[in-house]
Amino acid sequence: MTDDPTLLEIRQSHLNTGLRGYPVGTARTSAVDKEKGVSYCGYPVAEMATLPSESVIHLLVHKRLPADDAEAQAFSDDLRRRGRIPGDVFELLKALTRDGHPMEWFMTGLLALGMTGKTGDWVEDGLNLIARVNGVAAAIFRIRSGWGEPIAPHEDLPYGPNFAHMLGAPGAHPQLGELLHLFHVLHMDHGGGNLSTFTGKAIASGHADMYASMTGAMAALYGPLHGRANQECLKFVRQVGSDDPADVEAFVRKQLESGGKIFGFGHAVLRAEDPRARVQYAFAEEHFADDPLVKTALTLRQVVPKVLKEIPKISNPYPNVDAISGTLLQAAGLTDPEFYTVLFGWSRVVGIAAQIIDERLHLRGGKGVPIYRPRFIAEDQPERHL
Ligand code: MLT
Repeated sequence: MTDDPTLLEIRQSHLNTGLRGYPVGTARTSAVDKEKGVSYCGYPVAEMATLPSESVIHLLVHKRLPADDAEAQAFSDDLRRRGRIPGDVFELLKALTRDGHPMEWFMTGLLALGMTGKTGDWVEDGLNLIARVNGVAAAIFRIRSGWGEPIAPHEDLPYGPNFAHMLGAPGAHPQLGELLHLFHVLHMDHGGGNLSTFTGKAIASGHADMYASMTGAMAALYGPLHGRANQECLKFVRQVGSDDPADVEAFVRKQLESGGKIFGFGHAVLRAEDPRARVQYAFAEEHFADDPLVKTALTLRQVVPKVLKEIPKISNPYPNVDAISGTLLQAAGLTDPEFYTVLFGWSRVVGIAAQIIDERLHLRGGKGVPIYRPRFIAEDQPERHL
């Protein structure tokens, strides 16, 4: 890192822009290249999708893959031991109202895990949270959907397939387990500045514990402009109502003319198709090519960029991570879109925990990042007296 003056210059034009693109820190877990997309500790995310979740969790927390099968197995066994969830947590979830959104249940579950198990050690709490969120997220699906009691983890299944096992989703497609593994790895981390990660780190900078900080991060993810976009994208795909290119183009143009949003396309940093979308499209073409909504989503992939490129102010007309994720989950048998952001959170807690650990223990030569305290310039407040 050089002392590049452009990193230090703050202009009026930067104010009230949500810090968009404005350097405020460093991240060791992932980088987002505007053309290539996200890489985890240097590895392109598409390659990470071929590894078990435990290896990618190890990479993000320890900044390297397990050295060999023995270390990978030991780490996996350790996560499994950490995954025990106190019964009080399930009893609390059972008492929640179904009027609450699954993300409100998820945030409650995280706080319940903290109340029943935090240690105050950033690494311990980070790994424990990652391990326990598998069972809590699955239990939320089962309890709130009325599928029955929480299912205990299978002692021999790795993280991703164990989640599918604990879900026990009625009518699940045979490919649901593989799709959930893909979903889990693809959503783990996306640079240091996405809203949920930034929020979690900021809260942790005041030394609120890992669980409280993660709850705040999930509150940020709950927003429809961030993690809940996957739920909105499925709604958008459903509205199109055709997979015929001419019909889809007519719908997109009409949506734009009426000032409507084209969900699933564009990104604050990326200027090319999100590789996380590319992996999902390939999975969809391989396993769900005949699903009507998948066919529509695949046609949108062809049509939307062509139309959006006609609009000069649009800097990124390409698909993002949310473009087909909800449509794929629907095709694979998870039919309640309100749970899709819980799946995003189930995955993203890995990267956020890893970045909180980095900011608390490793950045600035181990001194850690001080409490976040940006400056807001007082506006329109001339001195007055009673
Ligand atoms: C994410 O993965 O967090 C989304 O792409 C949003 C972002 O990167 O800001």
